[in-house]
Amino acid sequence: MFKSYKQIGLINTQELFQKAFAGQYAIPAYNFNNLEQMQAIVEAAVEAQSPVILMVTESALNYIKKSILPFLTKGAVNYALKLNSGKPIPLVLHLDHGHGFEICKECVDIGFSSVMIDGSMLSYGENIKLTKKVADYAHQFDVSVEGELGVLAGIEDNAEAAKSVYTNPEDVSDFIQKTGVDSLAISIGTSHGPNKFKPEQCTYKNGVPIPPALRFDILEKIGKQLPGFPIVLHGSSSIPRQLVDSINNNGGDIKNAIGIPEEQLRKASTSSVCKINIDADGRLATTATIRKIFNNEPTEFNPRNYLGKAKIEMKEIYKHKIINLFGSGNTI
Ligand code: G3H
Ligand code: 13P
Ligand code: ZN
Repeated sequence: MFKSYKQIGLINTQELFQKAFAGQYAIPAYNFNNLEQMQAIVEAAVEAQSPVILMVTESALNYIKKSILPFLTKGAVNYALKLNSGKPIPLVLHLDHGHGFEICKECVDIGFSSVMIDGSMLSYGENIKLTKKVADYAHQFDVSVEGELGVLAGIEDNAEAAKSVYTNPEDVSDFIQKTGVDSLAISIGTSHGPNKFKPEQCTYKNGVPIPPALRFDILEKIGKQLPGFPIVLHGSSSIPRQLVDSINNNGGDIKNAIGIPEEQLRKASTSSVCKINIDADGRLATTATIRKIFNNEPTEFNPRNYLGKAKIEMKEIYKHKIINLFGSGNTI
């Protein structure tokens, strides 16, 4: 095993976020669960010349296995170096939605360079207590810590919130001071999964749902109170219509899928938002590709072929976001 993330060749988020803040762009944070997804993320980062945050949730970690992930990540670092002709690509390994001290500690101990402690379901006081405990432990090893204040509606890892609770800007600087977190996830109207808004919340243009705008007023208030402090947006997949249609045209049944419009993500990237989390769009790209192949090519049974095509589809989506939405392309 590795003694520290530095041995794996990873970096923490400190300098990355400072640069992103100064350059008015956001760092992409992509969830992954398997080899193909990891390759797609690394290839997108190299091709777009962007730093990238590789994220795993607790359930993804259980799926990949704790004994494998540090080596898979070391492989990702080596792969990026080789693809980029020997010049390192800044890579972070981040725990997404850690729900307790033990899982965060374990991730620090096996080589993560950043962890999220998600105490957003707890009372304000309990959230502070737990987040501070994680920050105090992680900072001894130079590992970055993300906290969360406010609740996103939708399904988070191991937890489901029926309703969102917007972050109260009045609480933010007190929370940061008391916990010592390096970045903060806030709730301004995004949510996890493919159903981010109800159809009845939307207006319609040519049959296309236009969801209500994110609460940029909350983001601005927080930015004014804490100049230079990195803010994180979860639940930021755009849920591309063509992917949902392709899934549904090939036997799938994903109803009322509505994501965050791209122009809102472009706007958020130039604010105090330094990290944007994407999971669902990668899942949709994989599912759309595989369903189409299974439908159109019934004799296909080689996983390398369909997973390989899914990888290319994911890579293109990850790259598109880097170049056209987050603005982190060509920043290395
Ligand atoms: O919040 C993150 C995810 O979209 C849920 O991921 O299925 O890996 O727990 P999971
Ligand atoms: P999406 O479900 O919008 O992809 O959000 C993912 C996320 O926030 C992971 O933490
Ligand atoms: Zn999230």
